[in-house]
Amino acid sequence: MIIKKAEFVISNTDPVKCPQDRRPEYAFIGRSNVGKSSLINMLTGKKGLAMTSSTPGKTQLINHFLINDEWYIVDLPGYGYAQRGKKGRDKIREIIDTYLDEREAMTCLFLLLDCRHEPQKIDLEFITRLGESGIPFAIIFTKIDKISSSKLKENVEKYKVKLMETWEELPPIFTASSEHKIGKEEILNYIENINKGEL
Ligand code: GTP
Ligand code: MG
Repeated sequence: MIIKKAEFVISNTDPVKCPQDRRPEYAFIGRSNVGKSSLINMLTGKKGLAMTSSTPGKTQLINHFLINDEWYIVDLPGYGYAQRGKKGRDKIREIIDTYLDEREAMTCLFLLLDCRHEPQKIDLEFITRLGESGIPFAIIFTKIDKISSSKLKENVEKYKVKLMETWEELPPIFTASSEHKIGKEEILNYIENINKGEL
């Protein structure tokens, strides 16, 4: 799929105030700093569309971007940012949970994981929560420019083994680098197939 048009629509914390036109939407979630906003910019080919920062905790709202006048990309705040304090963390978590529980237009959630790390408790717990709520999701390993391809293979395999402990079937898994523009075609094709009703 080619993205001809990508425009910012609205930012807020309340799913009720999100666009109500029922176009399908694809949301990006993961720990703070994992690279959600950068990935959205890479996928859309618009560098400044989603705000990025080297300091975790940049995205604090639910951000809707309309793509090709047909579907939405949603940039969500990251979870688990330690320096935000318990109160701040809980608030962000509530925004995320309300969005996931109430947003009917949410078609597929992309869960981003930093490819350099071993499976982390906070992410595994989040995946379990998605399973319990029956939320459709796919995994994207980010920042793959930061490790060798053999290390990447090893880390992805470790994750698969970990997931197979609790899941009968693995979710779709993608690998990406916003820095080197890797993974764009695969992720956009996946979205296109869902939009066409082929997945
Ligand atoms: P929050 O909004 O704080 O939750 O973070 P985020 O997940 O949106 O992360 P963001 O896209 O702001 O990126 C965080 C940092 O990681 C920035 O310094 C990016 O430049 C860097 N980064 C993101 N993706 C990549 C990547 O693919 N490769 C490399 N090398 N750096 C990346
Ligand atoms: Mg962000």
